[in-house]
Amino acid sequence: MIKPHGSDELNPLFVYDTAKRHALIEEAETLPSILVNSAAAANAVMLGGGYFNPLTGYMNLADALSVAEKMHTVDGLFFPVPIVNMTDESVTAGSRIALRDPNVEGNPVLAIMDVEAVEPVSDEQISFMAEKIFRTLDGSHPGVATFTGLGRTLLSGPIQVLSFSYFQADFPDTFRTAVEIRNEISEHGWEKVVAFQTRNPMHRAHEELCRMAMEDLGTDGILIHMLLGKLKPGDIPADVRDASIRKMVELYFPPNTVMITGYGFDMLYAGPREAVLHAVFRQNCGCTHLIVGRDHAGVGDYYGGFDAQTIFDEEVPEGALELQIYKADHTAFSKKLGKVVMMRDAPDHSKDDFVLLSGTAVREMLGKGIAPPPEFSRPEVAKILSDYYQSLDQ
Ligand code: ADX
Repeated sequence: MIKPHGSDELNPLFVYDTAKRHALIEEAETLPSILVNSAAAANAVMLGGGYFNPLTGYMNLADALSVAEKMHTVDGLFFPVPIVNMTDESVTAGSRIALRDPNVEGNPVLAIMDVEAVEPVSDEQISFMAEKIFRTLDGSHPGVATFTGLGRTLLSGPIQVLSFSYFQADFPDTFRTAVEIRNEISEHGWEKVVAFQTRNPMHRAHEELCRMAMEDLGTDGILIHMLLGKLKPGDIPADVRDASIRKMVELYFPPNTVMITGYGFDMLYAGPREAVLHAVFRQNCGCTHLIVGRDHAGVGDYYGGFDAQTIFDEEVPEGALELQIYKADHTAFSKKLGKVVMMRDAPDHSKDDFVLLSGTAVREMLGKGIAPPPEFSRPEVAKILSDYYQSLDQ
C-alpha cells in the first residue's frame, strides 16, 4: 500500500489505548484549559485521525510562516497549509494544558497539549500567511475572514487527542479516520484507489467524473470522501449531502466499488493550497490518486478554474507526494452526444451544446420543488435535495 506522507507508518495522535485515554481525560480535569476555536479543534481532529501525518502537533510561528510561504517547514517537511492553534487566551510557555471543544455542548476536553512556545503574531504576519494561503486578502473571502480572526497568539507543541469531537456521534456511518480508511482499503484488497473530495451533493457530472477516473486509471475502487465540518452559510449540511450521495451510490454504482466516508475538518476555501492539502491527506488514507476538477475547493471568483491543478505542476516539488492527481476538465451533459463528457473530449461543442446550470439556478428550482433535468441531476438525488430546500421555507 502507498506509504503515508513523511513516514513509513501512520502515526495518529489519538490515544487509542482506552486505559491511557481515560487517565489522560482525568488528568485534563486538573490542568489549566482553554476553549479553542473551531479551526484549531478541526486541526486536532485531523491530527488525531492520522490525516495530517507526520505532524505531531501544532506548528510554531517559524514553521507556519515557512509553510505559508513555500509549503515546507523550516526542517524541510513538505506541508501545504499551516496547521496552527491561534488564540487570544493567555497561556504560559512550557505548560501542559487541556484544549476544550467549542463545537460540543459543555465544551469537553478534546486534547492535551504540551505548549512548547507561545508567540505573538503580528497583523503583518497574519496578512502574509493569509495572502499566501488564499491568494487574496479580501475580507469577504470566507477563508480569509476566518483565518484573520483566529487570534494573535500562536501556541505550538505536541498534542494527545482524546476525542473526535462531534463527528463520531453525528455521522456514525460516515466519519472515518485515516487509520480506518487505510484498514478498510486493505480489507477490500484494493491497490489502486482514487479519492473524490467533495463538499457538495453529487450531481450527474460528479458521478460521471468518478466513473471516468475509475475507468481511466483502472482503479479497484473509489473513496468518496466528504467534508463533515463547518461550511459557509448557504452550503448544504453534511447529513443531507450524505443521504443524497448514499442514494446515488446505491442506485448507480456496482456494489463493493465505492467507500462512502467523511472527515472532520472545516472548509478553508483555499482553492489550490487546499487541493494540495487534500492530496496529502488522501495519501495518508492510502489512496493512490485524487480527482481534481474544476474550481476544486474554490469559492466565488477567487481562483482560476484550473489553478488547483497547475499548482501541482508549478509549486509541488518533484517527489514531495507519492499520490497522483487525476486532472478533470469541466464536465457536463452533452446534448449532442447524449451523455456526460469532459469538455476537452468534445472539442467541436459550443457552450450551448451542454446542459449547464448555475448553482443558484439549481437551488431555486429545488426550493420550488421543481426537479432539475435528469441530465443534470438524478431524480432520486434531486428529491432529497428538494425536500431539504423546501423544509427551509417552513
Ligand atoms: S470542493 O470544494 O469539495 O472541491 P465540490 O464538491 O463541488 O467542491 O467538487 C468536488 C470535486 O469535483 C472537485 O475536484 C471539483 O473540482 C470537481 N468538480 C465539481 N464540478 C465539476 C464539473 N462540473 N466539472 C469538473 N469538475 C468538477
